[in-house]
Amino acid sequence: MPYNKSIIAASLMSIISSPVFAGDLSEGARLHQEGNCLSCHQTRPYSKIKTPNFAKLEARVNGCSNQLNLGWFEDEVSAVSHYLDATYYHFSK
Ligand code: HEC
Repeated sequence: MPYNKSIIAASLMSIISSPVFAGDLSEGARLHQEGNCLSCHQTRPYSKIKTPNFAKLEARVNGCSNQLNLGWFEDEVSAVSHYLDATYYHFSK
């Protein structure tokens, strides 16, 4: 039999460990916490009305993090955007 359990397990692991599924979300949550984003956004809730798609979300995360001089790299902006998407916007689901 060409397909055995270890091949199936290995391909499952690569899905689970892909950035959007694992590291990205917890890293995004950590950065979002560290950036103190809720100091403004607690009273200014994230809203799909202002940000209707993922590209715009990423642009706003980039804008705010630049404004705050957090020095986030592109992958950090992306991680926070995925975290906000999974938590508030749900564009991907
Ligand atoms: C000093 C206040 C302040 C802080 C801190 C701040 N923001 Fe913002 N943010 C704003 C303002 C003002 C807007 C403009 C849109 C609005 O009126 O909500 C905005 C808009 C946004 C939006 C789009 C809003 C929406 O309703 O969809 C996102 C996403 C966002 N910020 C992410 C972040 C992230 C991530 C951080 C932390 C790195 C952050 N912001 C920190 C003030 C802030």
